[in-house]
Amino acid sequence: MQEYRALRIHRDANDTFSVAIESVAAATLPDGDILVRVHYSDLNYKDALGATGNPGVSRNFPHTPGIDAAGVVVEDATGQYRPGDRILISGYDFGMNSPGGLAEYCRVPLQWTCPCPPQLDLREAMIYGTAGLTAAMCFDKLARLQHKAINETRLLISGASGGVGSLAIAMAAKLGYQVVAMSGKAHAHKRLYELGATEVVAADEWLLANKKALLRPSWDCAIDTLGGDALFNIIKATEREGSVVACGLAANAGFSATVYPFILRGVALLGVDSAEQPNDYKCKLWLRLATDLKPAALKSMCEEVSLEQVPNILEKMRAGDSQGRYLVRIAD
Ligand SMILES: NC(=O)c1ccc[n+]([C@@H]2O[C@H](COP(=O)([O-])OP(=O)(O)OC[C@H]3O[C@@H](n4cnc5c(N)ncnc54)[C@H](OP(=O)(O)O)[C@@H]3O)[C@@H](O)[C@H]2O)c1
Repeated sequence: MQEYRALRIHRDANDTFSVAIESVAAATLPDGDILVRVHYSDLNYKDALGATGNPGVSRNFPHTPGIDAAGVVVEDATGQYRPGDRILISGYDFGMNSPGGLAEYCRVPLQWTCPCPPQLDLREAMIYGTAGLTAAMCFDKLARLQHKAINETRLLISGASGGVGSLAIAMAAKLGYQVVAMSGKAHAHKRLYELGATEVVAADEWLLANKKALLRPSWDCAIDTLGGDALFNIIKATEREGSVVACGLAANAGFSATVYPFILRGVALLGVDSAEQPNDYKCKLWLRLATDLKPAALKSMCEEVSLEQVPNILEKMRAGDSQGRYLVRIAD
């Protein structure tokens, strides 16, 4: 292999950023243990940020985004995998300061990889991607403080039509939670019920700062992908001894709060960082995603796109107009 196709972000002399699909010399692949032929990748909010040169995503240009990849081992210097083995890569520095999955090939350290569980095909794995791993981690965190039977637990999921939100709804419904989906898109409500929501609430008023110290308890626990005032409103409306997992910042990274929900209702605020988890924990989460968390409709829970369609979708994601998961087909 002399060259491979990749989507790359370029920074020009005026510090503006452009996206191109181009042939890249194989010699530019970084050193690493494992050369992988990528079959599928996906799009996450972080890729949208990276495409506009967000320095928190990458400082190396040209930059190949894609924080997830599913593919087949071409060669493995460690001898851990055999050529043809199916593997998954997610997080760490992949698609950040190291070239990522929106390319026909990648080369990565062994510690960034998990074998693809036999119950999952490569396409399904990338319908999940980082969004699925994040949702799985949220359920793991909630379970640690779970004090009611799951089928009696009302779980609020915000940013419901997004990648993390829609997967979390389908997984929660499978686990048996009563799922309250919060969405800013009226046209998405029907789809959210189809995914397994038992109730859908409009996001509008929840996004605005509210002076009340506490709100009427409306759910036992929550997965919040929005941050900002929405996060604090969600915390204020959580039942006594409930837990809220903060995993995103789609609305705002900052939020101001008082201690009232924590000291008057015993609410717990939990964080999730999916990228830097120990690799053996990620591999366990992939196994759960392949088995008890796997929604029956997983295969249809995405829009499948080509590399050429990616630039438009990254723009939609930045504008908050995206919906659900985007699967990127790299090779059949
Ligand atoms: N902690 C981690 O490890 C981790 C991992 C993955 C993702 N994340 C974060 O989780 C968040 C969601 O990721 P995602 O992949 O699901 O993103 P996504 O597909 O773009 O979905 C985000 C959803 O949030 C809502 N939203 C977007 N912009 C908004 C705004 N300005 N105000 C209010 N609501 C808005 C929309 O849902 P509705 O219209 O339905 O309300 C949108 O569909 C992101 O902030 C991402 O960075 C964190």
